[in-house]
Amino acid sequence: MGITICFINQKGGCGKSSTCFHLAGHLAQSGLRVLLIDADPQGSLSQGFLGSNIVESLEPGETLATVFREDAFADLATLATSTPISNIELVPANQHLAAWNTPSPEELGLRQFMLASLLEPTHDYDVTLIDCPPNLYACSWNALLASDCVVIPVPPEDFGTQGLRAVLQAIDQAGQLNPKLTLLGLLVTRMDRRLLVHRAYEQKLRRLYGETVFETVVPEAAAFKVALACRQPVSHYSPRSSAAAAIAAMATELRDRIHRQQICRSVA
Ligand SMILES: Nc1ncnc2c1ncn2[C@@H]1O[C@H](COP(=O)(O)OP(=O)(O)O)[C@@H](O)[C@H]1O
Ligand SMILES: [Mg+2]
Repeated sequence: MGITICFINQKGGCGKSSTCFHLAGHLAQSGLRVLLIDADPQGSLSQGFLGSNIVESLEPGETLATVFREDAFADLATLATSTPISNIELVPANQHLAAWNTPSPEELGLRQFMLASLLEPTHDYDVTLIDCPPNLYACSWNALLASDCVVIPVPPEDFGTQGLRAVLQAIDQAGQLNPKLTLLGLLVTRMDRRLLVHRAYEQKLRRLYGETVFETVVPEAAAFKVALACRQPVSHYSPRSSAAAAIAAMATELRDRIHRQQICRSVA
């Protein structure tokens, strides 16, 4: 049984899906067996691997939505589908998940733990990455209750940093129900060092949150978008690019942080 990490922020465009997509590629290339859970009804992560036509036509029973249904049986072996990338399997999501992503997680009752239950039985994956929607509704809450660790991707702009308090509060609250949950850190994403405003926000984040902020920064780079458009993580599409190197450095720091928190299992 490996480690489960979720990527959460209540804003869109922070790089949550992109980080999951490209990090999964790097980890898979290093020989780890990676499971991706798409917990966002927008299905961006699923579309990254499978294309939008296939993802939009998936029946509810073929997606994460099925774990929330009382009249359906969901198990990981059935839901996890292979992707074109070796060592990466995916539990996809699409519009069918939206109905379950209710704004008040506290009203969910047992449905808070559906994702945790799905991942509970012993499985062969070394790492599970969960991509959350851009809100703190039921799907993100389920992800927090199912995870060992959480990473908050933050673009260095006002809109990215504003909602952080609510995200940290949700992590705190989830920790009461899931005591193993550990915040691995805030990850600055989409950084354009040429912009003074980005450098200023990065400094502000580091001043406010200190070592909680990853030293590694994910730059804004066309290579990420091009690789995604070709449905391959940057580790596979352009392994020699600086974008691939940034993801590799981030993965190393991720491992170090997991190790330091002593919640390491096979990933460390
Ligand atoms: N580091 C990056 N460099 C360039 N483009 C990026 C980067 N991270 C994300 N993007 C692009 O920005 C858009 C939003 O990113 P995404 O990962 O989907 O954000 P989120 O999942 O937080 O909503 C996508 O088109 C993605 O390809
Ligand atoms: Mg996303």
